[in-house]
Amino acid sequence: MKLNALSSFEELLERADMLSIPSSKEGMAGVYQNLLSKLIPSATLPPLAELMNGKSGAIMLYGHQNNKVIKIQVCYEGEKMTEALAYSLSKKMAIKAKAENAENIGFVVHHLESPQLIQSAIAGWTAGQYDLGLYKKPDEQSKKSNQNTLHTYLPNGTATGLAQDGISVGLVQQEIMTLVNMPASHKSPEYLAQWVQRSAAQYGYEVEVLDKNKLTSLGMGALLAVNRGSQQPANLIVSHYKHPEAKKKIALIGKGVIFDTGGLSIKDSKNMHYMKSDMAGAAAALGTVEACARLKLKVNVMAITPVTDNSVDASSTKPGDVISSFAGKTIEVIDTDAEGRLILADALAYAVKQYKPDVMIDMATLTGSIIAAIGNQAAGMFTKNDELAQSLSAAGDASGERVWRMPMFDEYLDDMQSDIADLKNLSDKPYAGSITAAKFLEVFTNEHPAWAHLDIAGMSFQPNGFGKGYCATAYGVRLLLKWMSQSET
Ligand code: BES
Ligand code: ZN
Ligand code: ZN
Repeated sequence: MKLNALSSFEELLERADMLSIPSSKEGMAGVYQNLLSKLIPSATLPPLAELMNGKSGAIMLYGHQNNKVIKIQVCYEGEKMTEALAYSLSKKMAIKAKAENAENIGFVVHHLESPQLIQSAIAGWTAGQYDLGLYKKPDEQSKKSNQNTLHTYLPNGTATGLAQDGISVGLVQQEIMTLVNMPASHKSPEYLAQWVQRSAAQYGYEVEVLDKNKLTSLGMGALLAVNRGSQQPANLIVSHYKHPEAKKKIALIGKGVIFDTGGLSIKDSKNMHYMKSDMAGAAAALGTVEACARLKLKVNVMAITPVTDNSVDASSTKPGDVISSFAGKTIEVIDTDAEGRLILADALAYAVKQYKPDVMIDMATLTGSIIAAIGNQAAGMFTKNDELAQSLSAAGDASGERVWRMPMFDEYLDDMQSDIADLKNLSDKPYAGSITAAKFLEVFTNEHPAWAHLDIAGMSFQPNGFGKGYCATAYGVRLLLKWMSQSET
């Protein structure tokens, strides 16, 4: 997406055959007075009260400018404009606008009140241009439209760099969505490693890929146990972007299961195809590092992602097997479908030992239980650190990528004790599955004082406008960017 920042609203009108205007309900009076009434003759412009007939709405109008007809798309939602709303509304509008087949859409943002609102709107608009038809032949109409350019007018005092950053965030999200939507036929641990290497070379950050031999010599028994049934060797990808002025080291650990069949504790086939999204945590962690590099943020952030399939084979790990782990603890694998906690156990222990991060946040599509508990409205957040919980919650509310704190009482770990090994990967009780999973992870963090686990199973893959069904959301990237911008890093 290229930025075409025009120097006046008049120039934008000349360039565009359609305008898209996002607004809050409160902002509609200004939109009406300053934009609509200038473009549409008063005889044909209905009164504002008639245009706005609900809690939210989408209006399509026709204006005249320089002897041409110009389509005007106005969408309003919410009382007041916030960054979360600017993003989500603009994303929705971009998806809707595609159907209009306009050649050059002017995205109107100069009525928004702050540079942050403008940046969020531009990020949403950019993300909304995403095309889910990865393997479809492009149709003639979409070839004609010029949606690779963002035509806009930035109000006085808004730097183009800020708009450009909004575009970068949206583009990172598009890449993440592609990785997550990509089927297992098209991705592998190796593919993901190459993706990171390309990105690191392009945006100037470091990457190290630990291959299967290295994982073996390091003793990553839990990651290798999950990889046993797979034809493709596991790896552990470490990407690292560091600004010289950054003070704290942040480690983002992401679950990278390329496809989760469940292993020998095989999943029901009904929704198994969704399990191509089981690497969304890794994608979000890696994408956040790329975003930090593109935005040149003053942070020191690394992504540490264990990547493997969870497949069915004669050599797959069997229920009841006892495996070793990087931390030195033995684990009885009761259920091979609880594989995320196994690969994260090794990645967390390795992160702590090797990098000694100040803050450690893991993101994982870890349990169906978190969806049963809180649905698709927030990720489950598990941490004993109140300050971290508070700052992540604030960033979640501000970005719209919400988190909701869950309990971490030590008693939950009692149900994970094994008779034969140091612990087992499944609770005795069929309750509180997302919490017992988090307690399992905690064992491998070496009591890190600033660790949070985000169970993003309900957030990273859900119906979100790009198609008829479930697809990737890129959840996590904007949450963490917001969190970093709000915290002392
Ligand atoms: N990848 C799944 C969790 C998941 C479920 C993600 C639905 C997204 C949507 C995970 O590996 C898994 O299978 N978890 C099991 C754990 C159980 C066996 C203890 C689950 O949640 O059912
Ligand atoms: Zn599983
Ligand atoms: Zn899984």
